[in-house]
Amino acid sequence: ELGPYSHFMQKEIHEQPKALSDTIEAVLENGFAAGLFGARAAELLPQVEGVKILACGTSYYAGLTAKYWIESIAGISCDVEIASEYRYRDAFANPKHLVVTISQSGETLDTMEALKYAKELGHSMALSICNVRESAIPRASELVFYTRAGAEIGVASTKAFTTQLVGLFALAVTLGKLRGRVDAAAEHDYQEALRQLPGSVQHALNLEPQIKAWSDKFAAKQNALFLGRGLHYPIALEGALKLKEISYIHAEAYPAGELKHGPLALVDESMPVVVIAPNDALLEKVKSNMQEVRARGGELFVFADLDSHFSESDGVHVIRTPRHVGVLSAIVHTIPVQLLAYHVALARGTDVDKPRNLAKSVTVE
Ligand code: F6R
Repeated sequence: ELGPYSHFMQKEIHEQPKALSDTIEAVLENGFAAGLFGARAAELLPQVEGVKILACGTSYYAGLTAKYWIESIAGISCDVEIASEYRYRDAFANPKHLVVTISQSGETLDTMEALKYAKELGHSMALSICNVRESAIPRASELVFYTRAGAEIGVASTKAFTTQLVGLFALAVTLGKLRGRVDAAAEHDYQEALRQLPGSVQHALNLEPQIKAWSDKFAAKQNALFLGRGLHYPIALEGALKLKEISYIHAEAYPAGELKHGPLALVDESMPVVVIAPNDALLEKVKSNMQEVRARGGELFVFADLDSHFSESDGVHVIRTPRHVGVLSAIVHTIPVQLLAYHVALARGTDVDKPRNLAKSVTVE
């Protein structure tokens, strides 16, 4: 079943070009049509005035990424909340807001209960982004987008996450279209970005030997920091979660601009700092954050784009991701942090597919 791979996690990381193409297929065939989200979407989506995303863990980070797309492309407000928090607070519900749950398994108890609670509070429009057909959460939702990642066996979520991002991106563009903010030319560009995505992800997978070469430097560490800005901040969070989950190294992620508000105090020669630094509008800001780290002796591990000017120097390691795909760059930049976590875990000899204390599907509180 594993084919040439050593673990399900590695296999599933490598299945991403296929999982993404399968998930994208309908969008490439029909464009960003309401019908992607189920039979009632043409009736419900035009009424949506805001979005509330509820999820746990990696799926929550997909939600955090989606907030950037929904607000910038659809031009409506989006808030994202951890399901286990939402379900126990006196929340404010606006019935014009679409509740979006994100769940690989479709059975996560906290997410399911958060959805039920949202309904009790008066929400009547719920969309499930889910990888398992007919599981509990999509069955309790008016609308559904099934990711086509195929079965995910490794406890650490990988291909489910990147395909969730595709579903959420499609939602942002579809809402933008319905609101008259995405014209035919823009829709074509977004479609084109999706079309190129599996190829870009394949290029990122080809970086595996370089990333593996970094893993020995991490294996002996107790702590690591991950930095990103904008759309890449949630990817930094995801990278830190993957690392702690499977390698048991304590890892935290911060938006790079937050460093000087506290975490910089942690940085010394023993602190590796992973930076997601694509060539976007925030690159210069990220570079100055990197100097702050270097000045305190922190060792930098930078994922940069091919076309940006970064040089390796003492304490600064650079891997270039092959191609920048604009608005979908967050998806491409997920691959290197997944591979890093995987190879560091291998170097530490942990049980990659079944990390201690964790279960694949969390159906208890
Ligand atoms: C992390 C991971 C978990 C899940 C979380 C939600 O690698 O797998 O954080 O993302 O338990 O699970 P689903 O998406 O099934 O609701």
